[in-house]
Amino acid sequence: MRKILIIGIGAGDPDYMTVQAINALNRADVFFIPDKGDEKAGLRNQRLAICERYIKAKAPRFVTFRTPERAKDFTDYKANVADWHAAIEQSYKRMFAEELGEDQCGAFLVWGDPALYDSTLRIVENLLASGAIAFDYEIIPGISSIQALAAKHKISLNRIGESVLVTTGRKLAEKFPSDADSVVVLLDGDQTFASINDEDMEIYWGANIGAPEELLASGKLADVKDEIKALRVRLKRENGWVMDAYLLRKAKDG
Ligand SMILES: C[S@@+](CC[C@H](N)C(=O)[O-])C[C@H]1O[C@@H](n2cnc3c(N)ncnc32)[C@H](O)[C@@H]1O
Repeated sequence: MRKILIIGIGAGDPDYMTVQAINALNRADVFFIPDKGDEKAGLRNQRLAICERYIKAKAPRFVTFRTPERAKDFTDYKANVADWHAAIEQSYKRMFAEELGEDQCGAFLVWGDPALYDSTLRIVENLLASGAIAFDYEIIPGISSIQALAAKHKISLNRIGESVLVTTGRKLAEKFPSDADSVVVLLDGDQTFASINDEDMEIYWGANIGAPEELLASGKLADVKDEIKALRVRLKRENGWVMDAYLLRKAKDG
């Protein structure tokens, strides 16, 4: 039976690879590497560098696939994403059938942890459920950008007995979640934090965490938001891509 490994490779630093992830790399015959265009070439190169560094068992094959584009015009966000995932599912089906022998093992290298804002698992599950092709799959957890952010700032994500909410820039723009003590935000290309006006709010921000060009900033949101916006622009200009994450919470007793 074909086997698919969904391997979390950590978010940014090749040293974030776990022993389990390294062992999984060495089991794979074929790696499916997404090509998302020039801007994401840095991420593709990082995946290949990880393979080069850690694979000792055998010489695997790399199959690069062009990720279908998500439609830009839509009214229903969830339907738009579902259509996009259905298109990706078709390319997975083709690759598994054409690039993987019946008894071979294929692998996806997922940035950070596969359970966090990543669709690989969902698409693989849907393909299996469709019955179009038989295979088995395993998930290997990775160090997520959230864990990396907390470690770099030397903070706990939660305060004692309090909750943490993980959300996206898009959701944050709709409404600040009032029932969570700490709010972690990913996928915010619009710097939504900058539109929050709350004198008590603090931010712990990190961009391209774990990479040589990593940037960190923290402090009262009102004091550092402009600096963070400028750092983000600079990083994107100098590096070609930027991924940032941040934690927001009110200062204690504030
Ligand atoms: C599609 S999500 C994938 C999350 C990933 N699965 C994880 O475990 O971190 C991409 C978002 O993760 C965050 N992210 C990923 N890597 C990061 C890094 N090295 N530094 C800062 N944020 C990162 C950013 O918010 C980015 O927009």
